Amino acid sequence: MIDNPFSLEGKTILVTGASSGIGRATAIACSNMGARVIATARNEERLQATIAQLNDAIDGHMMLCADLTSPEELDGLVKSLPALDGAVFSAGNSVTLPLQFGSRDKFDEMLNVNFYAPVELLRLLYKKKVLNKGASVVLLASIGGTHSFMPGNGIYGASKAALNSVMKYAAREFASRKVRVNSICPGMVDTPLIHRGTITEEQLAEDAKRYPLGRYGQPKDIANGAIYLLSDASSWLTGHDLVIDGGFSI
Ligand SMILES: NC(=O)c1ccc[n+]([C@@H]2O[C@H](COP(=O)([O-])OP(=O)(O)OC[C@H]3O[C@@H](n4cnc5c(N)ncnc54)[C@H](OP(=O)(O)O)[C@@H]3O)[C@@H](O)[C@H]2O)c1
Repeated sequence: MIDNPFSLEGKTILVTGASSGIGRATAIACSNMGARVIATARNEERLQATIAQLNDAIDGHMMLCADLTSPEELDGLVKSLPALDGAVFSAGNSVTLPLQFGSRDKFDEMLNVNFYAPVELLRLLYKKKVLNKGASVVLLASIGGTHSFMPGNGIYGASKAALNSVMKYAAREFASRKVRVNSICPGMVDTPLIHRGTITEEQLAEDAKRYPLGRYGQPKDIANGAIYLLSDASSWLTGHDLVIDGGFSI
């Protein structure tokens, strides 16, 4: 048999934000690459819809509902988890608001879900040794944090830039246990997230034309990057932010 370094066979992978968009596509892709998936998000019905699409040739997929901005629910989630070989932190939200109309509350709202929640989860998974030796963690950041600074994206971008910074520190600190930490910085990806903001469908269609490869990303474009970062194919990669943006940030 030919060895496939991208296989996730035998690995147990946690996916947050698994009820929608990039998280759902990642959970499905992980199961198709052979992983047992632990899917989490708040909405039970949408999470159930993800579980129904996982590869059922693999035993033991689980769903666990939790609001990651609630310290009690996040703690409860960590206590319910089996040992993990990998995790993808996709739960998040966005806001489009020029800085002059922002407020401390708006920053808090974004930081709570996009920064404090994933950082606390990462910290607890490592500290409580839920992450096995050699595990790989993938954080969903954004080109809006580090590579592209479009007006109105500052509050969201700041939350993702902060996350990317923690990613690099965690990569240094967790390397002693061979735990790898990387992030993916996507450009615009066609998920419910981009359709529920203030940007109109016409503006989105126009914006997509500015991408060198002529389109926005699909959730599976990002899921495939996550597979690489979770798999042994990337075993010498840590502290890296993988830009997947159809060439937008060139
Ligand atoms: N789409 C893009 O263009 C784009 C670009 C760059 C980066 N990203 C990042 O990629 C990640 C995934 O985005 P997406 O586009 O897939 O968005 P999405 O379709 O809106 O999915 C977001 C997910 O996060 C979960 N979630 C939100 N708040 C939560 C909370 N408090 N606790 C637990 N789960 C929560 C949602 O589930 P429930 O509602 O069921 O809780 C949902 O599963 C986000 O971090 C986003 O910032 C997206």
